Amino acid sequence: MPFYITTPIYYVNARPHLGHAYTTIVADVARRFHSMRQTEVFFLTGTDEHGDKVVRAAHKENMTPRVYVDAISRLFRDLWPELNVQPDRFIRTTDADHMAVVTQVLQKIYDAGDIYFSEYEGLYCFGCERFYGERELVNGKCPDHETEPELIREANYFFRMSRYQGWLIEHIQNHPDFIRPERYRNEVLAFLREPLGDLCISRPKTRLNWGITLPFDPNYVTYVWFDALLNYVSGLGYPDGERFRTFWPEAQHIVAKDILKPHGIYWPTMLKAAGIPVYQHLNVHGYWNVEQSKMSKSLGNVVEPLQLKTTYGLDAFRYFLIREMTFGLDSSFSESAMVQRINADLANDLGNLFSRVVSMTHKYFDGIAPQADPEVGRQYSLGLGADAQRTIAAYERAMMAFELQRAVAAVWEFIGQMNKAIDVSAPWELAKKKTTRPQLEAVICGLLKGLRLIAGLIYPIMPETAARMQKHLGLDPDAPFYFLEDLKKWKDIPAGTPLPKTVMLFPRIETAAPPAAPAADSAQPAPAPEIKPEITLDDLRRIDLRVATVLNAEPVPKAKKLLKLEIDLGERRTIVAGIAEHYTPEALIGRQVIIVANLRPAKLMGVLSQGMLLAAGQNAGPVLIMPDQPVPPGTALR
Ligand code: MSP
Repeated sequence: MPFYITTPIYYVNARPHLGHAYTTIVADVARRFHSMRQTEVFFLTGTDEHGDKVVRAAHKENMTPRVYVDAISRLFRDLWPELNVQPDRFIRTTDADHMAVVTQVLQKIYDAGDIYFSEYEGLYCFGCERFYGERELVNGKCPDHETEPELIREANYFFRMSRYQGWLIEHIQNHPDFIRPERYRNEVLAFLREPLGDLCISRPKTRLNWGITLPFDPNYVTYVWFDALLNYVSGLGYPDGERFRTFWPEAQHIVAKDILKPHGIYWPTMLKAAGIPVYQHLNVHGYWNVEQSKMSKSLGNVVEPLQLKTTYGLDAFRYFLIREMTFGLDSSFSESAMVQRINADLANDLGNLFSRVVSMTHKYFDGIAPQADPEVGRQYSLGLGADAQRTIAAYERAMMAFELQRAVAAVWEFIGQMNKAIDVSAPWELAKKKTTRPQLEAVICGLLKGLRLIAGLIYPIMPETAARMQKHLGLDPDAPFYFLEDLKKWKDIPAGTPLPKTVMLFPRIETAAPPAAPAADSAQPAPAPEIKPEITLDDLRRIDLRVATVLNAEPVPKAKKLLKLEIDLGERRTIVAGIAEHYTPEALIGRQVIIVANLRPAKLMGVLSQGMLLAAGQNAGPVLIMPDQPVPPGTALR
């Protein structure tokens, strides 16, 4: 089935920022994911260039609107390739074909009797370019711009939106995932519980002439939203284009919650009135906040996406945005959270796994992918084949539902299973004896297959890293390696394939070492049993103690005392503990421990430790504190 994905078309009254980058990267991830399903895809983005907001911004820069919109639109268009975003069309509302479609649809709805002329007085926010009802204001002010709207009186054209209220409610009720996630569907339904007014769709030229002239009255231009929303069909060549026929029935939009109402209410009713089938899904995400405040150009705290990309690398940037935001909810953006994710998920989990497996292939097989005996392979599959199928299923389900962070989490769970498989099978032990050579071959073959799967699954989010992994697995990075049907076949790296020497996929980002005592110190014997100064209950509550399950444990190279633990704390984390002389990795895997969950992360022998293990410090060595019966991971201590 074809797949059509759109982003909002962005206003050209401001430069692109992190928020725009997020939505557009999400669309690119969706586009790439659907290419994995070998469907035809079309991805549309662009710029929204009419309206008084743009005129005012142009005047501020002493430019004509035409020159101004060309300049800013180019900034957006040129940004996308730099973020490895590949739209199939970049549409501008000043494009002739778009303007022709707007004129045509207006005439169609006018002829059908759904547009009428009337006098209107109301509170108008120039920032939003729309009238506000009293109830929508917060302390008499526009909730987005925090300015008082102006009372203006005008004769205008109105779209009979109210006529479609009943139909829209029914449509949403009959199509539970028409608007998703559910909270936004509920928001739209709540809005529709009140009588829906009609929509003013014109602006008199006496006030604004930078817009599309109404076909039935030359004294008016089209309201910018009525103009802009139609880009989703004009961009496909509505009404007769081949693309329109192919892709429109599968249309999905992505927007943030700020423009839920135009997309959840105006747009479906406009489509209905114009006799065009409605879109399949409206996917609504939350807002990126920077230091508590909503990020927008009117408030002036804008994060330049390109700056972050240059500092941390494009794939790491894309990964962070997709992993960190739960699609639908707001997220706070902080550079430190980004560094933590890069170090923990990319450098540690993925990067280490990759270099470990490739290095072992070099060490034990001179860098040539081995051949596994099928029987031994079955015995020594370590459950990875089944894990792989479960991972693909969870990933596909999450991607289809736009739960992108879940899709990523499924891949990282598999990375954890791969790491565990290494520890359980201990290839370094198998390599010691000739008699266990077949087992060693089977284990390495399984791990190489796993890496091949991971490269395929991360492709939508980190296309460059996926191609690099592919190349370093000895496979052709230019041949499509990410088709889901192929990945499901759980194929070997062909025996005899030479693997280039391993690379570091993600260099660790050095952070200043915090003053707080790192995890390993917990294992040092307590010097004297002196009771520390009294603290209050509030002091105590600042310490977040939690139960965690150890998923994996392994020695830290060149550090006699340290073990690196992968733990499940409701979320996955890595911690380093100085207990290697007293606990073997096997003794810990699957056990539950107590963690100080909010200790500032610290690096130990190059590994970022995100928490501290609780142990009784005694001369004979640390003794871990463990719950005396199983508790769900992440449970807080009270
Ligand atoms: N021109 C209209 C859209 C017309 S679509 C027919 C518009 N433009 S906008 O430039 O203001 O873009 C709004 C969109 O940019 C949001 O819906 C979202 O996709 C993205 N974001 C802008 N700021 C954002 C955040 N702080 N966080 C997340 N996304 C944000 O509205």
